[in-house]
Amino acid sequence: MSIDYGNDIYEEPIVAKTFLSEDSNENSLRPHTLKEYIGQEKAKENLSIFIEAARRRTESLDHVLLHGPPGLGKTTLAGIIAQEMGVNIRITSGPAIEKPGDLAALLTNLSENDILFVDEIHRLNRSVEEILYPAMEDYAIDIIIGKGPSANSIRLDLPKFTLIGATTRAGSLSAPLRDRFGVTLRLELYTPQELAQIVRRSAGILNAPIEDDGAMEIARRSRGTPRIANRMLRRVRDFAQVKADGVITREVADSALRALEIDYLGLDPVDRRMLRAIIENYGGGPVGLDTLAATIGEESVTLEDVYEPYLMQIGFLTRTPRGRCVTRKAYEHLHMDYIGQEQLQL
Ligand code: ADE
Repeated sequence: MSIDYGNDIYEEPIVAKTFLSEDSNENSLRPHTLKEYIGQEKAKENLSIFIEAARRRTESLDHVLLHGPPGLGKTTLAGIIAQEMGVNIRITSGPAIEKPGDLAALLTNLSENDILFVDEIHRLNRSVEEILYPAMEDYAIDIIIGKGPSANSIRLDLPKFTLIGATTRAGSLSAPLRDRFGVTLRLELYTPQELAQIVRRSAGILNAPIEDDGAMEIARRSRGTPRIANRMLRRVRDFAQVKADGVITREVADSALRALEIDYLGLDPVDRRMLRAIIENYGGGPVGLDTLAATIGEESVTLEDVYEPYLMQIGFLTRTPRGRCVTRKAYEHLHMDYIGQEQLQL
């Protein structure tokens, strides 16, 4: 698939926010137990205690909110929780639940202790969210039957269930919804060492021969995100098979990723366009997010959720109350002359 960015045609970026067709194969790479799940040590440690406690009491697990940038394994973790609790999981997403009746249908079809996983829970609409409050708190929903003065409300009891909500932006959740989660876990970007382990594991499942240096090269360039590492692995494997002898070495990974315009820090053409736009059009910042998004023809939410977390983590971008600013490090990376704010104000 290709996307038209004005004059240039780029392949669909590896950093893409949208699900790529190949991501449906992601299922084969997903770990199924906490033991197999690499990284997120803090979240895993807490979860294993809560799961063990709930199992000993033969109760449902408290509602769990998972938040963090896309591609870090929130859906994977929800599947693992279901597996470890020995219960069923129903997977849906905020935008897919359009009406209160849709949510009522989902909830009334759950069995005792089942898990309902709602991805992008910050995108639930208000009327649906209000059904969720009594469902989470009292395991009941109020259904209005009829209209006008003869309308009646009846209360339907639900099985005890666990809601797992996932969001890239915990700050966008309403306070009443956020407060109803007993457990909140923040997923962090992965270290290159953890990603290299994930790449080696995935390569094993895909039967792709890989050297440790090859795995590390992919890991260092996948911006802390397993989904990106796994996408890169597939493309590097293609390259290894067609242009080399099939083995993923450091050199093969490097030339494949170079050909995909992913630089040695993992920045793709959108990252570089974004940083350059701030420097060339706004003197390095500050510039408001919406203005910046309009300048480079991307959506604000994509920049905020997909691109900024990594650029901030590597110290290339800062968020200030007046807007986004590029740091000296980013100028150096792009080989552009740095004109500091101090100098500009003279
Ligand atoms: N694949 C994607 N994320 C993973 C993780 N955290 N551990 C192991 N394999 C993965």
